[in-house]
Order: sequence, then structure tokens, then C-alpha cells
Amino acid sequence: MVEAVYHLCKDSPIIKPSKKTSLLFRITFLVFAMVCGLYMLFVCVQQMRSSRIIDKDMMEGPFPRISLTELTVPLVHYPTPKTFNRCECAKNPVRFFAILSMQRSGSGWFETLLNSHTNLSSNGEIFSQRERRQNLSSILQTLDRVYNLDWFSSASKNECSAAVGFKWMFNQGLIEHHEGIVEYMNRRGVSVIFLFRRNLLRRMVSVHANSYDRYAKLLNGTHKSHVHSEEEASKLSSYKPVINSTSLVSDLKAVEDSVARALSYFSSTRHIVLYYEDLVRNKTKLQDVLEFLKLPRRELTSHQVKIHKGPLSDLISNWDEVHRSLDGTRYESFINNRDY
Ligand SMILES: *[C@@H]1O[C@H](CO)[C@@H](O)[C@H](O)[C@H]1NC(C)=O
Ligand SMILES: *[C@@H]1O[C@H](CO)[C@@H](O)[C@H](O)[C@H]1NC(C)=O
Ligand SMILES: *[C@@H]1O[C@H](CO)[C@@H](O)[C@H](O)[C@H]1NC(C)=O
Ligand SMILES: *[C@@H]1O[C@H](CO)[C@@H](O)[C@H](O)[C@H]1NC(C)=O
Ligand SMILES: *[C@@H]1O[C@H](CO)[C@@H](O)[C@H](O)[C@H]1NC(C)=O
Repeated sequence: MVEAVYHLCKDSPIIKPSKKTSLLFRITFLVFAMVCGLYMLFVCVQQMRSSRIIDKDMMEGPFPRISLTELTVPLVHYPTPKTFNRCECAKNPVRFFAILSMQRSGSGWFETLLNSHTNLSSNGEIFSQRERRQNLSSILQTLDRVYNLDWFSSASKNECSAAVGFKWMFNQGLIEHHEGIVEYMNRRGVSVIFLFRRNLLRRMVSVHANSYDRYAKLLNGTHKSHVHSEEEASKLSSYKPVINSTSLVSDLKAVEDSVARALSYFSSTRHIVLYYEDLVRNKTKLQDVLEFLKLPRRELTSHQVKIHKGPLSDLISNWDEVHRSLDGTRYESFINNRDY
């Protein structure tokens, strides 16, 4: 048979059909059919195995979103931090999470809400510092410290944390090193919370205003990305950005594309997708997050105040131009949408 295959390669039967090659063709076909049969048998056995696992998992947990990760990776951990003793909570399981988002999508507000839970520590934007995201190994080292509960921030609750994580922006090494990060997350059972904003035009206003404030420092000479009073909010929103209406459609498309790319890169992780607007409109949605992290239900609160409120026409200097360039496009809903 080995010789036959050898001849098949050597004689190029397609060009010179003969009795010998028709025999070869039949043998090849037979081998092909056998391989197919074996493969199908293999797939069947695999499916029978995994469906048994799914049945078991369904009976054990009420949460319906089951990913491959959930079936194969332990989602609860019992870290033994180097820097302190977990004391009476040493026997409590800990879950790992990461909030993946983009700047000005409400993640600061969302994180303060989560941190109002006694058993949750979300340690902020730890990868805003460049040296921590220099290369994959510095990223993974940082992650190890966070998930071992050896990371200290104003949010860390240490002993009795039942969920620990941080927020991570796409442009902080996350997309660049996505392959290694996904591998880490799936290996260590890190759950991903995607947080996006539906109205990307409102997000753009916030991005412009925030980068303007970085220089203008409207609040007594200090730059603020988040505020805690209406007075501060109205000062910050007094700046009305000019939006480049020529590049607007392609700029919005670029943001949409990076959201789609991130979702596809991290699709194999255990994840949940949240939208800022939905959380603002419906506080019950936050309980979905607690359920996703299997934390005891609690009322979550934040003292942060929204900076940009009211219709967009009041927030953009060249509103007419912006309106004209989005009218009739698939981004039309961004201009007609009244709040948030
Ligand atoms: C990765 O970055 C860290 C911190 O910046 C540095 O100390 C280390 O040498 C780098 N490692 C590699 C393999 O480049
Ligand atoms: C939450 O924290 C409290 C102490 O603040 C602790 O008694 C309790 O066991 C913790 N719950 C979980 C699920 O870890
Ligand atoms: C800014 O200054 C005003 C008055 O000068 C004061 O009332 C306000 O508290 C200050 N705000 C901040 C954020 O320091
Ligand atoms: C607006 O965007 C266009 C296209 O990218 C660019 O050519 C132009 O310089 C921009 N205008 C301003 C004011 O930035
Ligand atoms: C609010 O969110 C909860 C949880 O996701 C959902 O069950 C409920 O239907 C939502 N309510 C409204 C009015 O959309």
C-alpha cells in the first residue's frame, strides 16, 4: 500500500489515466473512507463524553451560561497570599475576574458599584502603568499577584474577598498580547466582564472632554476623570467639544471594529457582556453580575455623579454638522437617543 501511494505521487495519474491508476484510485478511496469512519466514531465518543459533563453541570448550578472553560477549569480558588493570612475566610472560595472595557464607557462608575460589595475587590486600572504591560511576562506576573490577593489598592479587602479582579482597557496591552492573556485566563479560570457603551457618540464627547480637561484642569487646577458632585459635573460639562464631522462615521466604525475584535479574541473565556446604558436604566442588571461571580446578593451603591447629561445637541459645539453627517447612516440612533 505504501508503494501504491508512492506510485500515485510519482506517476501523476490525472494526466495519464491507466488500469494501474484506477486500482490505485480505488485503494486510495478505501483508505480515505476508513479514515473518515474512524474520525466520525471519535467525534461521537467525544460528544457523548462532553454531553454527560454538561448534564451534570446543569443540575448543579442554576447559571445557564456554560462555556467550555466552565466545564474544564476550576472557577473557585483558595489562594494563599504571601503578604497576609486569610484567617477565618481561608476556607471561603475566591473567584477571579477582569473587567474589559474602553476608556469613557462607565467602567469607573461600574467599579465603584462593585467595590461597594464587602466581598469584592476590584483593584482599578492596574495596567495604566506602562512597565506592568511591557511584555507578556510582566503582564502575567502582575496577574499572578492580583489573583494571589497580594495586590494592594484602596479597593482590596483581602481576607474575606470572594471575588478579586481589576479593570483593563483594550489599549493597555490587552489586545496586543491577547493570545497569551486568553491562555492564562482559561488556564486559571478568570471570568471576563465586558463593559461597553452603546452610544458611541456620547462616549466620543466624553473622550474629547476628558482629554481637554487633562490640559485645562477645570476643577481648581486638577484634572478629574470622575466627579462626586453635581457642581463639579456641571463645570466639567461646560466644555462643549467640536467633533470632526468629516471623519466621524469612520471613527465610529473604528470603535465598533475594535469592540468586535476584542469579543472574538476573548470569546473562549467564560464571559458576560454588559452595556453601560442598560446598567443606568435598570439597576437589577447589577445583580446579574453578582450572580455571574456567584457572590451573595447586595445592594450596590456609588457616589459618582454623571458628567454629561441631557440631549447631545447641548453637549457638542458643532451639533448641526454632526447631526447632518450621521443623519441617514446606521449611527442615526446615536443622535436621536435622548439621554445617557
Ligand atoms: C519584560 O518587562 C520587564 C519589566 O519592564 C523587564 O524587566 C523584563 O526584562 C522584560 N522581559 C523580557 C523577556 O523582555
Ligand atoms: C464576606 O465577607 C464577610 C466579612 O466581611 C465574611 O464574614 C463572609 O464570610 C464573606 N462571604 C464570602 C462569600 O466570602
Ligand atoms: C474649588 O474651589 C472652590 C472655591 O474656590 C471650592 O468651593 C471647591 O470646594 C474647590 N473644589 C475642589 C475640588 O477642590
Ligand atoms: C478631520 O478629519 C479629516 C479626515 O480624517 C482630516 O483630514 C481633518 O484634518 C480633520 N479635521 C480636523 C479639524 O482635525
Ligand atoms: C432589568 O434587568 C433584569 C435582570 O437582567 C431583567 O430580568 C429585567 O427584565 C429588567 N427589567 C427591565 C424593565 O428591563
